[in-house]
Amino acid sequence: MNAVIMVLAGDGTGPEVTDQAVEVLEMVAELYGHRFMIRTGLVGMDAIEAYGTAISEDTLAGCAQADAILFGAVGGVAQVGDGPRPEQALFRLRTSFELFANLRPVRPFGALVDASPLKPEYLKGTDLLFVRELSAGLYYGHLETVPGKPSEIRRRGDRIEAIDTLLYTEDEIERVVRSAFELAGARRRHVTSVDKANVLSSSVLWRRVVERVGREHPEVSWEHLLVDTCAMRLIRNPAEFDVIVTENLFGDILTDEASMLAGSIGMLPSASLGSRRTPGGVFGLYEPVHGSAPDIARQDRANPIGAILSAAMLLRHSLGLASEAAAVEAAVEAVLADGFRTEDIAYDGGTAVGTAELGLRVREQLAITDQQNQ
Ligand code: NAD
Ligand code: IPM
Ligand code: MN
Repeated sequence: MNAVIMVLAGDGTGPEVTDQAVEVLEMVAELYGHRFMIRTGLVGMDAIEAYGTAISEDTLAGCAQADAILFGAVGGVAQVGDGPRPEQALFRLRTSFELFANLRPVRPFGALVDASPLKPEYLKGTDLLFVRELSAGLYYGHLETVPGKPSEIRRRGDRIEAIDTLLYTEDEIERVVRSAFELAGARRRHVTSVDKANVLSSSVLWRRVVERVGREHPEVSWEHLLVDTCAMRLIRNPAEFDVIVTENLFGDILTDEASMLAGSIGMLPSASLGSRRTPGGVFGLYEPVHGSAPDIARQDRANPIGAILSAAMLLRHSLGLASEAAAVEAAVEAVLADGFRTEDIAYDGGTAVGTAELGLRVREQLAITDQQNQ
C-alpha cells in the first residue's frame, strides 16, 4: 500500500528514538512491498527558534495531508515564563485533529519481568490498555472570566492567585467512553472507569455517561474506581485491569506509574486517535509515552522500544497493516528474549547496548523472520 507518514521528531531524545522507529517502518515497507512517503517537520524548540511557535501552520497543514503522524517528544530541561512552550505543539496537534482517545497499552514482556521494580508474581497476567481522554479537561479548560484562556496567574486585590479550569462537556466524555467500551469488546470485556467523583463535578458527570454507555454494552462488565485507589491497585494487582478509561490529567499520571510494570518509561508506546478515517483505518498521532529525556539526550542511551512499538501501532490503526504490526512486536519480543537491552532495562548486569544498536537488532530480526517465512 501507499501511505504518507509525517514525522515530527522534536527535542532531546525525540530524534534518536524516532530515527529507529522510522528505520523500522522503512524495513517493513521493503519486506512487505509497501511504499511509505516519509515527510518531516519541526516541532518544539527548533520550531520556536525557526518560526516563533511550537508548530507552524505549514507543518499542521502537512500533517493534515498525511495518513498518520509519528511523533518523538518535545520539551527542554525547564521552561517557565510567558513565551511559547515546546509542549504547545502537542496541544495544537491534539485539538486540531480532535485526537480525543489516547491508547496506552501496558503489557510487560516476559523477558523483562525482572526489569520492573515489582516482584514478578505481581506482574503475572498484566495486560491492560489505558484510554486516556486527550482533548479536554484541565489541559484546555475555559475560564469564564477570560474566554479562551485556559489558565492564568493573576493579581486579585493584594494577593496573587492562579487558576486552571477542569471543564468537560457530556459529548467529550461520551466519545472517549464509547471508544473504551468498543476496545474492551475486542479484549477481555471489562472497563474500569477512573475518576474522583467524591470531589469533582466533572467526575459526577463522567459517571453518569459511563453508566449510560455501559447499559448499551451488556457484553462488557464495568466498574467505577476512584483515581487514588486506582493508583494503589495498579501496583497491588495490575492483572485485574483490562481497559482503564479516564480523564486527561489522571491518565497522564497513571500511565507513567504503569510504565514501571513494563520495566521502564522507555518501553511504552501510544496512539492518539480521533474519528477521521484513512483508507486503512483511522488518522492518528503515534508517540512513545516518555518525554524528551534531556538528561540522556544525544548520548545513544535512550530506549527506542516505546517509539518502535508506536510505529507498530501506526501500522495497525492508521494503515490497517495488522500482520506487519504484529511482526514488529514479535521482533521486539525476540530481541529482548535474546538479551539485548538499553541501560534502563539492563537490570541483570549484562552489558547495555545503545539506542541505534537496539533498533538495528529489531530490524535484523524482522528480516530473519521474513526469510524464515519465505
Ligand atoms: P521524561 O519522560 O523525559 O524523563 C523522565 C526520566 O525517564 C528521565 O530520567 C529520563 O532519562 C528517563 N527516560 C525517558 N525516556 C527514556 C527512554 N526512552 N529511555 C531511557 N530512559 C528514558 O520526563 P521529564 O524529564 O519529566 O520531562 C522532560 C521534558 O519532556 C519536559 O519538558 C516535558 O514537558 C517533556 N515531555 C514531553 C512529552 C511528549 O513530548 N509527549 C512527554 C512527557 C514529557
Ligand atoms: C504526555 C506528556 C504531555 C501531557 C506533556 C508534555 C504536555 O506528559 O504526552 O504524556 O501531559 O500530555
Ligand atoms: Mn506524560
